[in-house]
Amino acid sequence: MTIRAMPSEAASLASRLAKTIRQDVQSMHAYAIQPSAGLVKLDAMENPFRLSAALKAELGERLGAVAINRYPGARVADVVAALGSYAGLPEGCALMLGNGSDELISLLALACDVPGASILAPLPGFVMYEMSARLQGLAFHGVPLTPDFELDEAAMLAAIERHRPSLTYIAYPNNPTANLFDDRVIDRIVAAVGAQRHGLVVFDEAYQPFSSRTWMQRMAEHPHVLVMRTLSKFGLAGVRLGYLAGAKELMAEIDKVRPPYNVSVLNAEATLFALEHADEYARQAAILRAERARLQSALHDIPGATPFPSEANMILVRVPDARAVFDGMKRRGVLVKNVAAMHPLLADCLRLTVGAPDENTLMIDALKASL
Ligand SMILES: Cc1ncc(COP(=O)(O)O)c(C=O)c1O
Repeated sequence: MTIRAMPSEAASLASRLAKTIRQDVQSMHAYAIQPSAGLVKLDAMENPFRLSAALKAELGERLGAVAINRYPGARVADVVAALGSYAGLPEGCALMLGNGSDELISLLALACDVPGASILAPLPGFVMYEMSARLQGLAFHGVPLTPDFELDEAAMLAAIERHRPSLTYIAYPNNPTANLFDDRVIDRIVAAVGAQRHGLVVFDEAYQPFSSRTWMQRMAEHPHVLVMRTLSKFGLAGVRLGYLAGAKELMAEIDKVRPPYNVSVLNAEATLFALEHADEYARQAAILRAERARLQSALHDIPGATPFPSEANMILVRVPDARAVFDGMKRRGVLVKNVAAMHPLLADCLRLTVGAPDENTLMIDALKASL
């Protein structure tokens, strides 16, 4: 039975809500997820491959045997150990888990909320860095990239000097531009934060399976550097499993703000299963990297399309009119992401997720037809 509020009750709920919920939250928009039913879904950098029938059956059996009546315990510790060896966690470092890296981004803002704390990140970048700052009531400093999507070294160093941020995010590779920034500039940013004796640099390696470089090993030489990863792009976006790695002493502190049972027994079991089949996921990532190369060359051959270099399972492409091309592709059954309104540097840009070979062919055909 639904309880209908009487008009006066509705008015009083509205006034209660207006007085109780944070004003900034009331003026925010909820995170928008594009409806995708019936479309070829190439908008969210998901892995397009489903498990084979045999692996599905194996996973089903494993999940069916999990004690869902108990809080998560030892199996979560097994995930921490398995991810540590999968990722090659360096000596002296530890790892904590999040319900996706989105949760870790929120937990970092919470843990670093000292008086005057702020968060700094290049823009355009992943939206949750700014969102986490806003929700935690911290200042956010966005530093525009250069027009070719590199870090603006002088502006980054000046912002670090001026704001002394608690957290500096470097998405490696960046979303939505898909590139890896120049390592020499990154080295100088890491050194500048290090010299302040305050603040951390977080390398967000969400796209690591598709990237040629990582900070996982280098992190050990820089105790103020953390590496964050997720299994979402690897192939488990529906499972929700992110991890954050850094110096043991630091991780022990950050882990204190984590809700005790943030990773469910089902997430844990599915993650262990996937890591035991890491060779299958590596095979899928190799197909996606090859498809990325095929898409890049097809895009280069389309008059009017300007693709940018990618080290991720997405390609940013500039077209003459992003809205018209986005709408045209959608009418033809292909959903991508129109990022043109996200930042002035992304004017007329679409972000294409690299899908399965047949999906990519449909995407290229729809793009050509929509130009
Ligand atoms: C750079 C970056 N970091 C983190 C995330 C969030 O990943 P998760 O699914 O683990 O919350 C994304 C998602 O697209 C991303 O692009």
